[in-house]
Amino acid sequence: MKYGYFDDQNREYVITQPETPLPWINYLGCEAYFGIISNTAGGYSFYRDARLRRLTRYRYNNVPFDTGGRYVYLRDDDSKSFWSPSWQPTRHQLSGYSCRHGMGYTTIGSTANGIEAHTRYFVPLGENLELWQLTVTNRRTTRASLSAFSSIEFCLWDAQDDATNFQRNFSTGQVEVEDGVIYHKTEYRERRNHFAYFACSEPLAGFDTQRDAFLGRYRGWDSPTAVAAGQLTNSIAHGWSPIGAHQVKLELEPGETKQIIFVLGYHENPVAEKFDPPNSQIINKKTVKPVIAKYLDPAKADAAFEQLRQYWDSLLGILQVSTPDPHTNRMVNIWNAYQCMATFNMSRSASFYESGIGRGLGFRDSNQDLLGFVHMAPARARERILDLAATQLPTGGAYHQYQPLTKRGNNDIGGGFNDDPHWLIVGVSAYIKETGDWGILDESVQYDNEPGSEKPLYDHLQRSFRHSLERLGPHGLPLIGRADWNDCLNLNCFSDTPGQSFQTTTNKEGKVAESVFIAGLFVLAGRELAALASHRGLTAEAASYLSEVAKMDLVVRKHGWDGEWFLRAYDDFGAKIGSKECEEGKIYIESNGFCVLAGIGLEDGMAAKALDSTRKHLATKHGIVLQQPPYSKYYLNLGEISSYPPGYKENAGIFCHNNPWVIIAETRLGHGDEAHDYYSRINPSAREEIGDLHRCEPYVYAQMIAGKDAPSFGEAKNSWLTGTAAWNYYAIVQWILGIRTTLGGLEIAPVIPKSWPGFTATRVFRGVTYKISIERKGDGNRIALTVDGKAVDGNVVAPYANGRKEVSIHGILS
Ligand code: BGC
Ligand code: NOJ
Repeated sequence: MKYGYFDDQNREYVITQPETPLPWINYLGCEAYFGIISNTAGGYSFYRDARLRRLTRYRYNNVPFDTGGRYVYLRDDDSKSFWSPSWQPTRHQLSGYSCRHGMGYTTIGSTANGIEAHTRYFVPLGENLELWQLTVTNRRTTRASLSAFSSIEFCLWDAQDDATNFQRNFSTGQVEVEDGVIYHKTEYRERRNHFAYFACSEPLAGFDTQRDAFLGRYRGWDSPTAVAAGQLTNSIAHGWSPIGAHQVKLELEPGETKQIIFVLGYHENPVAEKFDPPNSQIINKKTVKPVIAKYLDPAKADAAFEQLRQYWDSLLGILQVSTPDPHTNRMVNIWNAYQCMATFNMSRSASFYESGIGRGLGFRDSNQDLLGFVHMAPARARERILDLAATQLPTGGAYHQYQPLTKRGNNDIGGGFNDDPHWLIVGVSAYIKETGDWGILDESVQYDNEPGSEKPLYDHLQRSFRHSLERLGPHGLPLIGRADWNDCLNLNCFSDTPGQSFQTTTNKEGKVAESVFIAGLFVLAGRELAALASHRGLTAEAASYLSEVAKMDLVVRKHGWDGEWFLRAYDDFGAKIGSKECEEGKIYIESNGFCVLAGIGLEDGMAAKALDSTRKHLATKHGIVLQQPPYSKYYLNLGEISSYPPGYKENAGIFCHNNPWVIIAETRLGHGDEAHDYYSRINPSAREEIGDLHRCEPYVYAQMIAGKDAPSFGEAKNSWLTGTAAWNYYAIVQWILGIRTTLGGLEIAPVIPKSWPGFTATRVFRGVTYKISIERKGDGNRIALTVDGKAVDGNVVAPYANGRKEVSIHGILS
């Protein structure tokens, strides 16, 4: 069953029933101020860091689901009935409910009691605030006397502390109310120089800032006592739970419409200018007032919305494709690109599944996210690369995560995930392929954020590669460390203590357990690094990388091959993992997908065999599972992977992130049908019809779909923040459609389904717009190109120096 539909023209997904199987969310903001918003207006906002600068409260794992949000109430002041046009929190019967999730905005509305109301939520570009534009129309034949109420609950900034430290927090809350603007200033009196504000465009009939006064004793957001009474109480919070609520009276003639704007924002003052007058405790509002005034003006709010539209037009305009498959088109042109922006911004920090408290930005995650993001905002990608590299350790290893607010490595988690450093090479290489900005390699970057430790970025890449070289195990394969890409394959952990972190515990020295996956990554990264080196004229160095790559390739084929597929690893006892000799976990997706993707075994049939085995043992109708058979019990020597019940997460779930590795691998063997078939199995748009099974949003990828060993086979979980976004985007665009960035220019190498007569695409690349059309004349993947009508040799179109704005490429596949 479907819960809505795609409106591709407007780049929106329109949800037509509020009771979706799970909250279906969207993101507001794309720079520094962010929010998540569900289809019933649940969610929260924060500035940069979802843990440390949380503006509003949200209650994960609450019932009813999805509690805490940007709630509006309407009250008919004659009949005294009230409701929420977004359905939550009052959950009244509504007609014509719709939620339009678009690019950086969400509009939710409905009609009830003859009153139509919609709220459009978005964050203007360049601002640290969000706008709620509430439009109310009287559809009755008689005059309507209404009250409209806004409401939010402030978080006392540190979301972790806010949810636990009540002995302190019940006494610290402070607000100011001036000219109808509610200022939340908890801890402003001491070390904070930031505050939040909540403003309304219309004269107020009342406000509340103390939660108890608004909700009443033992009442919830579904029936606030002050809303029921039709009169807010002008409460001033001191301690307890500061909230923001406004009341506006509306008198509407039949057919009349009015708009109310609410602005919720974050503002910082210089430390020396926090108070006005200086020796008082009153917030200095000089610089915030003009910002508030600007956005309370409907014309300015609309103009800001228009700007946001244009911003997304231009971002998405960089690549648009038209293929015979609507699901491919919609994901590439709209949603997958959009999701890549979200993963780039959030890494894995704040979603409906990530609490915003637990994790900083992952080193490997952020580097991989670049693959799907770099073409949209290369300058931001550049900054991210330099930030990440600055948290690298002098050994070439890396902190597993860094904190977005401080841009420092996260000491709690530390390093020792031996795949991490290689992803920096992959990320930087993707960046240079897109931009041609070789200068980034000469940027001076610290190690471990230590002043004085600066070295060119290129030095960081060299150390990244060496890090593995200096850590080879008994078979000559890279040592795994705490874990490789699979955070849950913890071969040095040996944890038998409940609650101990699988990620940070290492009870073994770590000199034995090796990873075939890292070996594949080593081969890929080594080739990328060699290409960078030779471009810098470092011929001997490039050759030495290639010779290490060749050695590793041999080692993989000798010690990483199981006869029918690639092994996954060797454990701390030197025993095989992912082998026919194992009782469980005989075959894994990661090493098979990644080794073939990296080009290992393409010539000698190993690659083909590995993919056949993958198909035979791991592929299901809902995607490719991570391994088989699943682990039926906890294995001390394997760690977290075996902590999950069979079919979930890393224990034989369909872990969507690694499906595109197999997709790319299939294209490397020229298998367009197989590649696109795998692509379609996990494509959320193609799964829209099975919404009751899939349950997550049909417009974004989820991290996991339950595998065939789980009772809920086919059910997705953990949507939005997953490396699946970047990798699937990369797989479909660069490998199936074959519009590939290379150091030498734009390569055209499609490996598309046989049934496709072709496709067209527009790609803006290094300042030139390429109009690409591909025509199929035979079954194969051989391509002949004409550029601006002239036949050319090869299939790489070198960048145009100056002047060229548009180039047309026609390719014939035979
Ligand atoms: C999850 C992994 C995740 C890891 C680190 C595990 O519980 O299964 O997917 O990468 O935690 O946060
Ligand atoms: C999620 C993590 O964010 C990612 O880094 C990891 O590779 C996968 N889980 C697999 O464990």
